[in-house]
Amino acid sequence: MGVSKDYRPVRKAIFPVAGLGSRFLPATKASPKEMMPVVDKPLIQYAVEEAVKAGITEMIFVTGRTKRAIADHFDKAYELEHQLEKSGKTQLLKIAREVVPKGVSFTYIRQTEALGLGHAVLTAAHLIGEEPFAVLLADDLISPQASALGQLIKQYELFGNSIIAVQSVPSPEISAYGVISGPKHADRLFLLDNIVEKPKFEDAPSDKGVTGRYIFTPPILDKLRVLQPGAGGEYQLTDAIQALLSQERVFAYEFEGVRYDCGSKMGLLRANIELGLEHPETSRDLHKYLKAKVLPESQDPK
Ligand code: UTP
Repeated sequence: MGVSKDYRPVRKAIFPVAGLGSRFLPATKASPKEMMPVVDKPLIQYAVEEAVKAGITEMIFVTGRTKRAIADHFDKAYELEHQLEKSGKTQLLKIAREVVPKGVSFTYIRQTEALGLGHAVLTAAHLIGEEPFAVLLADDLISPQASALGQLIKQYELFGNSIIAVQSVPSPEISAYGVISGPKHADRLFLLDNIVEKPKFEDAPSDKGVTGRYIFTPPILDKLRVLQPGAGGEYQLTDAIQALLSQERVFAYEFEGVRYDCGSKMGLLRANIELGLEHPETSRDLHKYLKAKVLPESQDPK
């Protein structure tokens, strides 16, 4: 299996961050869902770091009202840096500076109305041109060491086709996802023959749920341009992917790594606990705390 003749490197990524985040009200009334922290980093920073690691150099944010904090986060913080420098807090200064990756550009574009994920991606179409591009949904946090986008890009380099991340969701929860079906093409790789948004559990064409990482070839933009509203009255990216299937191959890749649905309260709590158990500053105390809180004394192995 060699590199596809159509292969062009993926350098651009769209981060749609214009959703209302209503499941997190009141936290999201005046500040973006994507700025909510997991341990000590906002969700959007995990996604940007994943993209940088995968070789992305152009970050495109589709933002909405209340999202200015995201642009501020990826900007130089002169006053903060000056204060930290003056007080000799060099480690914290390093952390503040490292938020802005080197050799990477940031562009912000407004989606004036939250009309759906498909509409959000289309809002950035003029910044994409004739190149393949990635889409990352920051509220789907994937264990950072997994480099989920890097896994997709490796597959893209083999085939040169659009490819979407999926994971197995063997429960009624699948009806909250886009769901794919199609034959196995290689290890963890499926050739799509169908994709539906939020099917009923009994109608789901498989147990493979779409997760917030995608690589697209430019023809997806033409499909988005003629898209009609779908499930929930929103312009659904899923429907554009379904339309793309009639024109070219699309793959789904069952990535390795744990995904936390940080668009939901339970997902965000789980991510904080699991990443907190791995974080060098919190690991020991959190272990101790959870053991004391969760295990009744009689079950304590000590
Ligand atoms: P969600 O389906 O999680 O919607 O969007 P939401 O509005 O953010 O959250 P709830 O359901 O009201 O709690 C998935 C991703 O698509 C983006 C969101 O910001 C999120 O990253 N999105 C969604 C947009 O950028 N624009 C939209 O119109 C809709």
